Amino acid sequence: MTTALVLGGAGGIGAAVTRRLAADHDVTITHHSHPERAEALVAELGDRVRAIAVDATTEEGVVAAFDAAQEQGELTVVVDCVGGWDYPRITELTSEQINDSLSLNLVSALLVLREATKRVADGGRIVMVSSVAARVAPARQSTYAAAKAGLEAASRVAAKEVAKRGVTVNVVRPGATDTEYLRSITSDKAIEAMAGSNAMRRLGTPEDIAGVIALLVGPDAAWITGDIIDATGGLA
Ligand SMILES: NC(=O)c1ccc[n+]([C@@H]2O[C@H](COP(=O)([O-])OP(=O)(O)OC[C@H]3O[C@@H](n4cnc5c(N)ncnc54)[C@H](OP(=O)(O)O)[C@@H]3O)[C@@H](O)[C@H]2O)c1
Repeated sequence: MTTALVLGGAGGIGAAVTRRLAADHDVTITHHSHPERAEALVAELGDRVRAIAVDATTEEGVVAAFDAAQEQGELTVVVDCVGGWDYPRITELTSEQINDSLSLNLVSALLVLREATKRVADGGRIVMVSSVAARVAPARQSTYAAAKAGLEAASRVAAKEVAKRGVTVNVVRPGATDTEYLRSITSDKAIEAMAGSNAMRRLGTPEDIAGVIALLVGPDAAWITGDIIDATGGLA
């Protein structure tokens, strides 16, 4: 059995990814502020899943996550679900907010890409979770959109650097997805507007996003690399 590493693997989208991958892999998941979500997922899925607490905005944290995954077995899949946002107006940005957002959504992704490209086995798969915010530039998401756009650019570069080993690097861009996190920071009115803005007229589910990621890590996706896949229910 080969090993998958899911950073943020007990979060809203991350837990759905972990459940999909645990069918075919041992899975190492990382958590940060919510150890209880990781404990519940390990209890649900059993020995096949191991959880480690790391701060993915630090070099030590990201290196520790990869060390733990490689202790579990040959690392063939890396999925990075770490990220987060709030809604500051651009006129209200502070250096602290800018640094926090870039650190969580971009610095962390660059560290993950560095370790993943070095450590994933030949023929392996790397999937980075961005956001459709990087494409549509919604109001009040300047730092988040900028950071996720950076994640996308770096992932496309990484794809070129590892292609000779048959490793693919792709990005999935969810639209508004029904997670605890989204609901904790977004008003009901805004959520209703988000749900009505795509062709399917609903929020995505974590399983919708996990399904797209499962396609990219599967054997039929070996010829897709350096790509960015929207998973938005048809957001124009
Ligand atoms: N939900 C949406 O509408 C939506 C739309 C587009 C893109 N996305 C992206 O999808 C991903 C997952 O989002 P979600 O909605 O599922 O939210 P979530 O449950 O909060 O997932 C974020 C994950 O990041 C982890 N994390 C946060 N800070 C960290 C840190 N410093 N070090 C290590 N891990 C850290 C969290 O772990 P802990 O909970 O343990 O802290 C959690 O597992 C994010 O990249 C987000 O930007 C979400």
